[in-house]
Amino acid sequence: MDSKIVMLSVLTAFCCNGTAYAQRSVQTLKKNWQFSKGEVFNAKSAENVSVPHDWAIYGPFDRKNDLQVVAVEQNGEKEATEKTGRTGGLPFIGKGVYRTSFEVPDTTGKTVTLVFDGVMSNARVKLNGKDVAAWPYGYNSFHCTVDGTVKPGSNQLEVSCENKDGQSRWYPGAGIYRNVHVVMTDKVHIPTWGTYVTTPKVCKDYATVSLHMKIEGARQFKKWPYGDAVGVKTVIISPDGKEVASDSSTYIARGQDFAQNFLVEKPMLWGTEDPALYIARTTLSVGGKTVDVYDTRFGIRSIEYIPAKGFFLNGEHTKFKGVNNHHDLGPLGAAVNKSALRHQIEMLQDIGVNAIRTSHNMPAPELVELCDEMGMMLMIEPFDDWGFRPKSPNGYGAVFNEWAERDITNMVEQYRNHPSVVMWSIGNEVPSQWGPVGMNELVMLQDLVHKLDPTRPVTCGMDQIRSVLDNGFAAALDIPSFNYKPQFYEDIYKRMPQQMVLGSETASTVSSRGVYHFPLVMPGTNARHTETHPDNQCSSYDNETCSWSNIPDIDFARDDDHDWVLGQFVWTGFDYLGEPSPYDTDAWPNHSSMFGMIDLASLPKDRYYLYRSQWNKKDNTLHILPHWNWKGREGEVTPIMVYTNYPKAELFINGKSQGVREKNNSTWQNRYRLMWMETVYTPGEVKVVAYDKEGRKAAEKTIRTAGKPHHIMLTTNRKSLAADGEDLLYITVQVADKDGNIVPTDERLVKFSVEGCGAFEATANGDAKCLLPFHKPEMKLFSGAATAIVRSGNKPGTLKFTAKASGVKSATISVPVN
Ligand code: GAL
Repeated sequence: MDSKIVMLSVLTAFCCNGTAYAQRSVQTLKKNWQFSKGEVFNAKSAENVSVPHDWAIYGPFDRKNDLQVVAVEQNGEKEATEKTGRTGGLPFIGKGVYRTSFEVPDTTGKTVTLVFDGVMSNARVKLNGKDVAAWPYGYNSFHCTVDGTVKPGSNQLEVSCENKDGQSRWYPGAGIYRNVHVVMTDKVHIPTWGTYVTTPKVCKDYATVSLHMKIEGARQFKKWPYGDAVGVKTVIISPDGKEVASDSSTYIARGQDFAQNFLVEKPMLWGTEDPALYIARTTLSVGGKTVDVYDTRFGIRSIEYIPAKGFFLNGEHTKFKGVNNHHDLGPLGAAVNKSALRHQIEMLQDIGVNAIRTSHNMPAPELVELCDEMGMMLMIEPFDDWGFRPKSPNGYGAVFNEWAERDITNMVEQYRNHPSVVMWSIGNEVPSQWGPVGMNELVMLQDLVHKLDPTRPVTCGMDQIRSVLDNGFAAALDIPSFNYKPQFYEDIYKRMPQQMVLGSETASTVSSRGVYHFPLVMPGTNARHTETHPDNQCSSYDNETCSWSNIPDIDFARDDDHDWVLGQFVWTGFDYLGEPSPYDTDAWPNHSSMFGMIDLASLPKDRYYLYRSQWNKKDNTLHILPHWNWKGREGEVTPIMVYTNYPKAELFINGKSQGVREKNNSTWQNRYRLMWMETVYTPGEVKVVAYDKEGRKAAEKTIRTAGKPHHIMLTTNRKSLAADGEDLLYITVQVADKDGNIVPTDERLVKFSVEGCGAFEATANGDAKCLLPFHKPEMKLFSGAATAIVRSGNKPGTLKFTAKASGVKSATISVPVN
């Protein structure tokens, strides 16, 4: 077999136990692609690449790459201005062509399907010189059957793509940035995304499971009565590997769907704490011979959205403690990597986040699989433009009328078996929400989703509150959800027939990790405070917002005070490439967002701990800000905040009490933060002692002014890596003084090297202004830290990572690769 066929197993998107069945093979085409920039493939200049691949992430950054002259109406702008860095300042616009080849054995009696998890964008696919598929929208998965074109032996695959100017409001990535699979089955088979599993009745004692399926290729057997019969046997396999139900039936093919029903006694439920997963394993047979084995992984769980009462998961009242995330993985760009996604989910779960809104696009299948496995709920959203007056001239609006139905169908068919998906969104801040065209678009999309999946509600993120409350748009949705409207929740609740409200986007608080501006100005009752600074950074006191957004505290209060507030999805969990608000108007080099709780280098900002203090109910949080290295500010007021789940604490500077603070309802922020607004900077030690509800001393924490930079400190997110060539290690690189105190202001350049079983992958420092390339093994620290990402090799052994910088002792770590 050709070396470019790197995986021969059951496709994980359909079949999750990794078992390989003789009747169904999947090749995921990762290695040995050739890529050439431009419209026509140029063999001379083509480079060897692996897929997933993002051609634009290698840069270089340039102001000219994505200069746009626009008025962002959603931000209340009336006049067009020069917008810089809006899509990340990377060279993603243009055309590119990929080529590879793959082998198939004898195709007699077989069906071959190509499945693309996502190509950015306007993909055109040729197999052996013949056009076999085209798909404009870069975020959706698509597939095509290539019988008649595919041949035994080597097959030439060519994928061209094109990103247009003005197609996006954020960094989309470029090229074949998600996986490509070749699926070979018998002619009689279950097609791509061909099953639909539901659990109509879920209770403690039992659950019913209904499995609908399509069966293709069976009508070739014409002899009635039994010649066209397909044996269909499905067994339900429990999370601990036992067969707990089964059904064997006969399907007489007339092109109709087929359904089997099961009773599962004492089901293990899928939940955010314990995400139990079942498999429905379906075996098709013709004349007693097995022709296909298809696994549908699913969860047994109930979801209810109850008027006035809120959202219930398995009968338990549950708030959405959610985040919005764009699809890019910071310095890795859009190229999907499961290990990077797992790291993101782990960080979010440490905060206490229980849900992700895939704003504003279909996710990678790997993300949905991980959410199933790790207990993270999902609101899947396809796009943020419809046909009428789209925000991006060459964005989804340009193809909406022709493609929306197909895009929605693929999205729902692909992901409706996943227990993590608890809601669909059909759009975000679509400009047509104010009028009749928007209503038509809404009804078309929502009806289509209902038809494909009647088990989950539909929502759409709305911002034009006055229009949508009056014109029926908000009332027409299953769930009314709003972006940045906490001030209006009571009004919405009173007026909307659904009797509930969801924050589809909340906060959009802006901050730069480790940067603090003085004097500190806290927002008033409107929870808003806009301020820009000469350094083009935002303050980490979590007091700064955009003109349309607010600090987190008001959203916490809304969630805490009303059952009918379903919860919220914060904008955003992670910083992303593009949209550098409030520094987006002629403010180059700003080119990445400041909205994240976590920065572009996957490093937590202070806000991480503010959310953690409210949302993580298992672990205590006691976090002090700012850092205490303020050379030059001696004697000046330098406020201190503590983010904690404890109600009360006393603060000490160099042993001297600064008083006790207790959370109270006097302002939004006094309810959720402990604040000492008058503290004065003197170098030394800041200590906080926290008290629990009963007034008992519960925890304490100290931070110290760091001395002279002495050595590099390395911290990793994991202890070992898998020898699969895809696993990633995130290494936090910091500088410490001789006593181990982190120097939070250090900005030196650190150089990285990797030896042994792995290779350097990328680096970032979270500075929205930093133009250093992500792929050179060196990075300047920003606020005393940077992240280096290392990729495992394919062979077991040890990986050695070294970081060196002038003026400090270098550091090395070794990690086993198994
Ligand atoms: C919203 C929009 C998001 C993002 C956000 C920034 O209006 O839906 O995509 O732009 O603002 O605050």
